[in-house]
Amino acid sequence: MADEPQIIYAIRLFFEIVWMLLRVDFEIIKSLFKSILPSEPKDVNDDIILITGAGHGMGREVAQRFGRLGAKVVCVDINAKGNEETVKLIKQEKGKAFSFECDVTDRAAVMNLAERVTSEVGEVTILVNNAGIMPCKPVLRHSEKEIKTLMDINVNGNLWMIQAFLPSMLERNYGHIVAMSSMAGKMGLRNLVPYCGTKYAVRGIMEALAVELHEDPRDTNGIKFTTICPYIVNTGLCHNPKIRFAGLMKTVDPGDAADRIVDAIRREYHEITIPSDMYYTNKIFQLLPPAAGKLMTDFIGTGLDPHD
Ligand SMILES: NC(=O)c1ccc[n+]([C@@H]2O[C@H](COP(=O)([O-])OP(=O)(O)OC[C@H]3O[C@@H](n4cnc5c(N)ncnc54)[C@H](O)[C@@H]3O)[C@@H](O)[C@H]2O)c1
Repeated sequence: MADEPQIIYAIRLFFEIVWMLLRVDFEIIKSLFKSILPSEPKDVNDDIILITGAGHGMGREVAQRFGRLGAKVVCVDINAKGNEETVKLIKQEKGKAFSFECDVTDRAAVMNLAERVTSEVGEVTILVNNAGIMPCKPVLRHSEKEIKTLMDINVNGNLWMIQAFLPSMLERNYGHIVAMSSMAGKMGLRNLVPYCGTKYAVRGIMEALAVELHEDPRDTNGIKFTTICPYIVNTGLCHNPKIRFAGLMKTVDPGDAADRIVDAIRREYHEITIPSDMYYTNKIFQLLPPAAGKLMTDFIGTGLDPHD
C-alpha cells in the first residue's frame, strides 16, 4: 500500500514469500507422491466425449476405448465414411456412439456442430482435439496453400472447438479439454518446420488457456487440461521414419498409444509424451546448451524423410 511504512511492507513481503515457498514445496511433494502412487483413473461412464479426427488412426482407437468404458462417444471427422466406420465398430461392442461430419477449420460449421451435439446428445464433458495433418518436406517446398491449410486444421481448428465447447463447461464448472500436440511440439525436426510450429502452438494454447481459467474470477477448478505429445505412431501419418537405434526408440502401435492417451485423460495428467521416457530426455535436452543438444540429436539420428 502507498502509505504503508517501509518496515511493515518488508515484514509482510517476507511472510508472503515464506508462505508461497511453503505452498510450492507442498505442491512438489504432492506431485512426487502422485508419480509414485498415481490417482485412480476417473469413471467416464456418465461422460459425453467428443473426439475430432475420430475417423482414423489414434482418434478412432481412443473413441473405441471410451466406447468400451461406457461413455457416450461423439465422433467428428471431415471424412464421413471413416467416421461412420468408427461409430459402427463402437456399436458392435454395444457402445454408445454418434457420428457428426464436420470440417474443424470452418468456424461456423463448428458452432453449428456444438448446437447439434448439445441438442441431440447432450453437453460435451470431455473434448479431445485430435484432428490433424502432417505435410512433411523441406520448408521451402511447402506451398502457401499447404501451410495455410495446416495452420487452419492443426491450430485454428483447436481454437474453434474450444470456443464452441468451453462456454458450457464454464457454466457448469465441469469439463476436460484434451489436445493432441506432438514431440514435434517440444523439439525441432527436419522436414516438419510448419508442422512443428503448429504443434508448439497447440501446447501454447493449452498452457495459456489453463492460466486464463486459473485467473478467472469464477470457480474453474472443475475444468481439466491434458496435452498429449506422441513421437511416431504407426497410423500412416508419418512415412519413412529414420531411427538409428530401433530398439531404443520404437515407433508406437496406435492401440498402445490410445491406451496411454485414455489413461492420461482418466488420471487428468497435465501433459504426457508417448513413449513416456521422452518426457525426461526432452527436459534434459532443454537444459543443455544448443550445441551440446545438437551433438546428441545428431548421434541419436532420428527424424523423417520428405513424404513427396
Ligand atoms: N501419427 C503420429 O505419429 C503422430 C505423432 C504425433 C502427433 N500426432 C498427432 O495426432 C493426431 C492424430 O494423428 P493420427 O496419426 O491418428 O492421424 P490420422 O491421419 O490417422 O487421422 C487424422 C484424422 O483427422 C481427420 N481430419 C483431418 N482434417 C480434418 C478436418 N479439417 N476436420 C475434421 N477432421 C479432420 C482425418 O480425416 C483423419 O480421420 C494429429 O493431430 C497428429 O498431428 C500424430
